[in-house]
Amino acid sequence: MMNDFLWWRDGVIYQIYPRSFADSNGDGLGDLPGVTSRLDYLSDLGVDAIWLSPFYPTPDKDFGYDISEYCDVDPRFGTLADFDRLVTGAHRRGIRVVLDMVMNHTSDQHPWFLESRSSRDNPKRDWFIWRDRPNNWQASFGGKAWTFDPVTGQYFLHLFTPAQPDVNWRNPEVRKAQLDAFRFWLERGVDGFRLDVFNAYFKDDRFRSNPPKFGLRGFDRQEHIHDIDQPEMMPLLDELRALLDSYPERYAVGETYLGAPEKAVSYCGPDKLHAAFSFDFTMPASEAAAALRIHPFNPDWVLQKILEREAAFDAAGVWPTTVMSNHDVMRAASRTCRGADDRMAKLAMALLLTLRGTPFLYYGEEIGMRDLALKRSEIMDPPGKKYWPIYPGRDGCRSPMQWDASPNAGFSSAQPWLKVNPDYPRRNVAAQRADPDSLFNFTKKLIALRKGTPALRGGNFVPLTGCPRGVLAYLRRAAEQTVLVALNFSGRAARLPVPAAAWTPLLSTGALPAEVRTEVRLAPHEVLLLINS
Ligand code: GLC
Repeated sequence: MMNDFLWWRDGVIYQIYPRSFADSNGDGLGDLPGVTSRLDYLSDLGVDAIWLSPFYPTPDKDFGYDISEYCDVDPRFGTLADFDRLVTGAHRRGIRVVLDMVMNHTSDQHPWFLESRSSRDNPKRDWFIWRDRPNNWQASFGGKAWTFDPVTGQYFLHLFTPAQPDVNWRNPEVRKAQLDAFRFWLERGVDGFRLDVFNAYFKDDRFRSNPPKFGLRGFDRQEHIHDIDQPEMMPLLDELRALLDSYPERYAVGETYLGAPEKAVSYCGPDKLHAAFSFDFTMPASEAAAALRIHPFNPDWVLQKILEREAAFDAAGVWPTTVMSNHDVMRAASRTCRGADDRMAKLAMALLLTLRGTPFLYYGEEIGMRDLALKRSEIMDPPGKKYWPIYPGRDGCRSPMQWDASPNAGFSSAQPWLKVNPDYPRRNVAAQRADPDSLFNFTKKLIALRKGTPALRGGNFVPLTGCPRGVLAYLRRAAEQTVLVALNFSGRAARLPVPAAAWTPLLSTGALPAEVRTEVRLAPHEVLLLINS
């Protein structure tokens, strides 16, 4: 059974935000040797791959998502030799390594851009997007997507901050240079890539303005039809896939920018990406809810999201991914839990690890880390600075990993770059490892169960109808076995009728029932898994 185990489809991928994971040299910033020192932890947790958010040289205007050199390590994070040691150590433990490729834009300090902006006839002028007059495109972090550069009297395009100029993927030299960067890391043994906002690489070749639509912010008040999702992306994905396929078992997952499931699947296939994120459970139902930070995490909303993505991914024959938290959104535990009670975090974890699709676990999610509350003066994230207090930015979900109860949570011997969540003396890895009922031990158990249970890995998704209020229940059905997953979102006990079968209790956050006949009783917020094989 394990012979056909394909790491990126059947395994669990763990996202590491390197500056916040583990600091090995006492400068308050996490680094690559820090990650290497925690590989045993990751192996014990049972993850199959790590995705490293950017560690390349960067002026940090968007915390590493503004890169000034693609084929190197920022000295604050280590060296290329440290990187090689990390890859070797990971591979020795059967852990694959996925890198974050930010190729829609560079930093404005990248030598390519410095050359490009130096004069209109510089050979790299056309490596970026320069125009005499701006159109109506908006930057996703606020304001116009065009900034006037007085040196040469033209505007350059940036879909994010002005410190992140968009490269011109239509230029063949740019295309070659970017694909060479992929090759550079493949040659160093990297197993896969996460492509940052890949569907924005190409822009309309006539630079037409976007049509208007109703929305809150300027960015949302237009249909993004000319600044993203251009047809030129498909042949590029084909070329990238051919490059990946020239190495064994390589992988690419795209961050589909402004992407519903139908759009995400259109970029996947045997000659395109292996997978693309659809942020079904991280994105609030509406922009207004996002602004107000309301998240409708209830059975109806969750089921509707599951059905939408099942329909899109199934129809296209594409394997889904599941994300509850990442470095851009509020952590799942902060959205779903009240106070320090982790029962809803276990429920969200159960969804992540029992749905059809590759689970992406975000560092600290396994111990239910909560978002950090920051004062206005402490905010560093560009969109947070712009939109506070309506939108506080993304610093909250990026606080240092809480390893133990020692000073700075065992993350660093120095003052960390970003505050440690003050709850760390109680909420940390060491404490949760010692507690059999902790979210950590629940997560570890469920990862092992998923990997060892074919129905949980590959089975069909079949929702159960007739669930009591507050309960979501579904089957994962494979040829040889069926797993029933019951999730009680409500704070009240419930009775769930179950289909007739010889069910055996598999896992519960409450008390495992001795036997199951026609119904099961669920405690408030209980997660229960039954198996029939
Ligand atoms: C992606 C990243 C985000 C970054 C942006 C610009 O959305 O996930 O963190 O700010 O791209 O690179």
